[in-house]
Amino acid sequence: MMTSPENKDGNPSSLSPVAIKPDQLFIRRMKTEDVPGVMEIESVSFGTHHWAKESFLNEMNNQLGRYYSLTDFRNNKIIGYFGYWLILDEVHITTIAVHPEYRGNSLGELQLVQLLEKVLGQTVHWVTLEVRTSNYSAQNLYYKYSFESAGLRHKYYQDNREDALIMTTPNITSQSFRGLYNRNKHQLIEKIGGYPQGFEF
Ligand SMILES: CC(C)(COP(=O)(O)OP(=O)(O)OC[C@H]1O[C@@H](n2cnc3c(N)ncnc32)[C@H](O)[C@@H]1OP(=O)(O)O)[C@@H](O)C(=O)NCCC(=O)NCCS
Repeated sequence: MMTSPENKDGNPSSLSPVAIKPDQLFIRRMKTEDVPGVMEIESVSFGTHHWAKESFLNEMNNQLGRYYSLTDFRNNKIIGYFGYWLILDEVHITTIAVHPEYRGNSLGELQLVQLLEKVLGQTVHWVTLEVRTSNYSAQNLYYKYSFESAGLRHKYYQDNREDALIMTTPNITSQSFRGLYNRNKHQLIEKIGGYPQGFEF
């Protein structure tokens, strides 16, 4: 992740997640009007040093950046978002989050899959990110997609000087990655009851 801080414990809300079906989800390029909803999630997900509204507005104009929001169609509420930089053959995930009330519903995984789906068709070989060493929930999600540790950035997060774990995929064009990705995606579709069609990518 970029130097924006992440949640310290990485634990989703203890509440039961809001149930949602694939046809009630919509993912599209983040728009200015989405930013207030994004900020509601950001402020409860990434601690005191979360991104400011201006960071998202700037990033949405960054030529290298791509930002997406996930909406619950029933109430038009922003329930997740993610973003990345595309730099030559590397995609660097800069942010990913799910509204606390919707966590544990596979929506974080769905967003990661949608990101991978998008970049697998491009000339990308590696997907990288930084994550707090204490954020096991997020790390588990990345390990599930065969990200590996590539070292530490010491005292990377300014709020508590926590280390960042650098994570990277193997070459995503390799057969072994594709095989794992396809298996995981298939299981995800079975789990959530279908692949959402409401995507504007
Ligand atoms: C990390 C985050 C995006 C995961 O989203 P989510 O919708 O709750 O997670 P999912 O339901 O899609 O879970 C996908 C995988 O993540 C891992 N995971 C998610 N929650 C977990 C938890 N509480 N404990 C352990 N692993 C967990 C598991 O590997 C899970 O796969 P499984 O369902 O096969 O066990 C979400 O917790 C979040 O928004 N956290 C705050 C922001 C943040 O930390 N972002 C990441 C910055 S690097």
